[in-house]
Amino acid sequence: MGVELQHPMRPELTVDEAARGRFVSGIRAFILNDLATDLRTAYDDRAAPAFARETGRPPETSNEAHQALRGDPAFNIYSAMRVQAQKMVWNAAGSVVERDIGRMDEEAAKVANRPGDVVLNPGMEIPRNVDAIEVHLMPGSYTRGGNSLEAGAVYDQGLAVFSMGLMGANLDDIGLSMAAYASGKYPEFKPDRILDTGCTIGHNTLPWKQTYPDAHVDAIDAAAGGLNYASARAKMQGQEVYFRQMSADALDYEDDSFDLVFSSMFLHELSKKTRAEAFKEAYRVLKPGGLLLHMELPPNDQMNAFDGFYLDWDSWYNSEPFYKGYRDEDPAKLCASGGFENDDYFQFVVPSIGIYGAEAVREAIANENANAVDSETTGRLAEGIMWFGFGAWKR
Ligand SMILES: C[S@@+](CC[C@H](N)C(=O)[O-])C[C@H]1O[C@@H](n2cnc3c(N)ncnc32)[C@H](O)[C@@H]1O
Repeated sequence: MGVELQHPMRPELTVDEAARGRFVSGIRAFILNDLATDLRTAYDDRAAPAFARETGRPPETSNEAHQALRGDPAFNIYSAMRVQAQKMVWNAAGSVVERDIGRMDEEAAKVANRPGDVVLNPGMEIPRNVDAIEVHLMPGSYTRGGNSLEAGAVYDQGLAVFSMGLMGANLDDIGLSMAAYASGKYPEFKPDRILDTGCTIGHNTLPWKQTYPDAHVDAIDAAAGGLNYASARAKMQGQEVYFRQMSADALDYEDDSFDLVFSSMFLHELSKKTRAEAFKEAYRVLKPGGLLLHMELPPNDQMNAFDGFYLDWDSWYNSEPFYKGYRDEDPAKLCASGGFENDDYFQFVVPSIGIYGAEAVREAIANENANAVDSETTGRLAEGIMWFGFGAWKR
């Protein structure tokens, strides 16, 4: 897989910019494969035994694995490299967008929105996690450039470099994998109305329209600029999706409005309070018989201490303040607290359809043990990648 975007809304890269993007992706691949292996070896050979000598037992939690590793040279190098590589991702994307944004604006204007395609809410109070934190070290966060296309363009180009080609050329692998799982697992389920919450630039929204072409698909986000970009991006790909500026904890929809409420990589960016409200809102807007489906990071209590910390690293060093708090929560309890019945909770692990192919997704659907988290692959951006999904049906 290449690391360059393929959809028509993409920035046009100079040769040098393309090379810079590949270089940064390559550095990330080196860190997440080679240096991560060194980190694991340092943990097994030095850090965990030293922790055990001191406490009389091995590390049992993500925090204890962190405590054991702090100060270890392999950990210091891994962490320093990852932080600097993360900054390089956004710097590389930012400079491309600064140079090309005029042309992108002109292209977007050619597919001008029809009334109702994007509905912004200028009076809305923007949640602090969206604009007051430079989340994952992203300069200017999601509100960079206000309502302009800038934040969306930087996110799109940055995610392409960040994901090293593992999320597909249109960055839609999560949506494609989840939609393939849902449509294969529940063939009788034909949603008429679908809602994606926290859609950013709609990259993982589009697969739902592709999978259920007759459905009306809405996607919401709190950041206006990303929605403007998302709409142009969708239109240029010939996809009809309606984008709305809204907060997931106060949805401006009637009760029983949707057959499917989806999100991906969203819940871990919400405060605990907002997250709890978002589950209640999802329950409220789902029709009876509707499906809640979230793709997220796997929970800590389903992973060993090292692998739990490996993911929680972002909370400590990548400006993701709610990441660990989210991963410490139990997704089944989150669903139940939103109003879903305990018995209706389900979870699964689906192989990346882009890497493993549709047959592997079908095998996961057929495999009764496909709900088990494999610490070394699930949720990790590595050569083989598995996505964690969970949800519940509304009675
Ligand atoms: C990591 S991005 C989600 C990415 C995307 N769904 C994907 O599949 O990769 C998180 C998004 O959530 C949005 N967001 C954060 N808090 C929100 C809230 N309370 N309501 C709606 N959107 C919110 C942010 O603006 C951002 O676009």
